[in-house]
Amino acid sequence: GAAALLEAENAAISQGVVESNHPGYTGTGFVNYDNLIGSYVEWAVESSEARTVSLTLRYANGTAANRQMNVAGTVVDFPGTGAWTNWRTARLTVSLAAGTTPIRATATTANGGPNVDSLSVDEPGGVDWSTA
Ligand code: GCU
Repeated sequence: GAAALLEAENAAISQGVVESNHPGYTGTGFVNYDNLIGSYVEWAVESSEARTVSLTLRYANGTAANRQMNVAGTVVDFPGTGAWTNWRTARLTVSLAAGTTPIRATATTANGGPNVDSLSVDEPGGVDWSTA
């Protein structure tokens, strides 16, 4: 099956809002994090078994400042993309449990997170992975 693509606008949001004023997002919009430490988006990622997966966060950051976030325990860089309409990806590897694993992306700087479009989940090595 296809890789799982989980839209940020459908995830749990704390201190952020869904917006659609900067084109290029997938789905119906993106999450604009409030500009403070601790704002987050949390996805419920399902897996039939324990496994290691590659996560891809699609984001835009129209400022020059790196808007680092803690993603499932790892600090990930989200450097500027040149404009709020330029969407790029950041990747990391995580371990999923069997069942549901909450994957939270929390802003660690006073600027808040970047604008976040989606989280996709793939097995490393190019093997397609599905939540089905
Ligand atoms: C601008 C931009 C927002 C962005 C915000 C920010 O207001 O339009 O989409 O989230 O800057 O700095 O976080």
